Amino acid sequence: MNWQKRTAKCGEISLSDVGNEVIINGWADSVRNMGGMIFFDVRDRYGLVQAVIEPENQKELANRAKELRSEFVVWIKGNVRNRENPNPNIPTGMVEILVSDFGIINKAEVPPFEIKDDIGTNEEIKLRYRYLDLRRSIMQKYMLTRNKVYQIAHLYFYDNDFVEIETPVLMKSTPEGARDFLVPSRINQGKFYALPQSPQIFKQILMVSGYDRYMQIVKCFRDEDLRSDRQPEFTQIDVEMSFVEQDDVFSVTEGFFVKLWKEVLGYDLAEPFQKMSYEEAMTRFGSDKPDLRFGMEIVNITDIVKNAEFKVFSEVIASNGLIGLINAKGCASYSRKQIDELTEFAKKYGAKGLAYIKILPNGEINSPIAKFLTQEETGNIIKAANAEDGDLLLISSDKKYRALTILGALRIEIAKRSGILDSVKDKFSFHWVVDFPLFDYDEESNRYVAMHHPFTSPKEEDIELLDASPAQARAKAYDLVVNGAELGGGSIRIHQEDVQKKMFSLMGMSDETAEAKFGFLLKALKYGAPPHGGIALGLDRIVMTLTGTENIRDVIAFPKTTTGLSLLDGSPSEVDSEQLSELGISLALKEE
Ligand code: AMO
Ligand code: AMP
Repeated sequence: MNWQKRTAKCGEISLSDVGNEVIINGWADSVRNMGGMIFFDVRDRYGLVQAVIEPENQKELANRAKELRSEFVVWIKGNVRNRENPNPNIPTGMVEILVSDFGIINKAEVPPFEIKDDIGTNEEIKLRYRYLDLRRSIMQKYMLTRNKVYQIAHLYFYDNDFVEIETPVLMKSTPEGARDFLVPSRINQGKFYALPQSPQIFKQILMVSGYDRYMQIVKCFRDEDLRSDRQPEFTQIDVEMSFVEQDDVFSVTEGFFVKLWKEVLGYDLAEPFQKMSYEEAMTRFGSDKPDLRFGMEIVNITDIVKNAEFKVFSEVIASNGLIGLINAKGCASYSRKQIDELTEFAKKYGAKGLAYIKILPNGEINSPIAKFLTQEETGNIIKAANAEDGDLLLISSDKKYRALTILGALRIEIAKRSGILDSVKDKFSFHWVVDFPLFDYDEESNRYVAMHHPFTSPKEEDIELLDASPAQARAKAYDLVVNGAELGGGSIRIHQEDVQKKMFSLMGMSDETAEAKFGFLLKALKYGAPPHGGIALGLDRIVMTLTGTENIRDVIAFPKTTTGLSLLDGSPSEVDSEQLSELGISLALKEE
């Protein structure tokens, strides 16, 4: 071995080591030759510490140090001493190591970006050189927080009698609303496995097998459009329990979050978490994952404007739609350009336009729709919105849920723009959204699809609605929402074979298709399935919330870009024709 093994970790050297000789191993960070002195920091996973060479007394060392560059891997031997100019901003800032010997273990090319936090480097370069990006202390903090979540999850669920059981990665498709990633079978040509969108069916089957309480930290794969909170492969803390009702799943989950928040952040969460129905969440906040850290609730003004002579309103009223507004407080000063931006923003959510009423600081009204409204109507709108001089009312008129969704999205956008979100960033609002509709009507395929997934049980009192008006039936489904993000979702399942069959048929599935796709589950339900239910928590999103980052890529060591590429290893990539022919596959590529 031509290097010396460490006796101490860089980030852990402290005043109590003063006078001691230590050896450290790590990466050279910012080498500074100040003439009289050569300073360089040495970094390892535990932090960094300053090393010093005094050329006057240490000519040979100083000579060798000329070769040192940032990111070289080094060993340093030396004596810990008090620093002349302490740096209170870093944990080792009171001390430094006077080098008595050192060696370069390995050289490094000049990195394409500096290894420090808050660098504005292009994301693509950081992903291409992810090993360097992961050296940054903020990234290490994300990974270490993630590690804490794994450990606490395992301990908590183990202590509560949960059994961790691995479910297959090569399996039959489970519908969770996304496309499957497929894996061709070589031995059974023409046949494919699907990577799990979730272990949903297997965890239910484990309940039939009597395991009673299951958990698994598990990778899930979904081929869907990516966003800042979505990756094609992500991790769930997946949970299933037998002989339970919704409240049992809630209390187990709440116990986990209370422990997690306490241990990671030292933060006390209040139990039980608040509950809100889907209908209430949509009506008041225009979202099934409302951020309850601030108000700005939606105001329904349909009744106030029901007689207005404005086509945009009257047509919507005639078709049972909704006219609503949010009050952007103090935003009457928004320019034409800012309002245009908000209109474009609303259009992304399906808006055809965005009406507004500005109440100028002098009390005057400025609005493109004022001419369609009587003074009384305008006055009533302002009253209902609780508006004052200087406020801006943003009005949407559309089908009920579309109008609510548009206003809900605007609510968040205004909160971002006006600094409200920033002012609540240290708060946590945990709550359950319950009583989701069982079905969503898919206008493209003209049929009902399960809002959560097809194994979700209807509420008992709504079973009779299944035939007459399925759209009205509510599910025993729930989401855990934190600060406007869906951190988890689950349901009480159907455990009777006939009800499950009926569910498939309501979704327009023939008996044959149901049998071909889910026959194995239907069969298992015939052999003594206990009542059961569970939840899956998005581990990546939990780490995002704990660390306060808005990009899911920050909390995944090797993530994909929004176009599904892994820039580090260059996947997906072409494979050679031999491999394809072994699989019995020939490509029919679409022309670009
Ligand atoms: P669901 O589809 O709601 O439920 O997923 C559960 C949680 O997983 C997280 N999540 C994601 N995180 C990152 N990237 C993605 N692409 C992604 N998709 C989902 C979310 C979400 O709340 N089997 C059911 C659970 C059950 O019924 O028990 C399921 O998978 O945080
Ligand atoms: P128009 O008469 O079409 O020029 O519309 C007058 C105002 O109503 C404009 O400010 C439009 O942006 C707005 N508007 C149009 N459609 C809608 C809608 N569906 N909801 C709210 N405002 C709308």
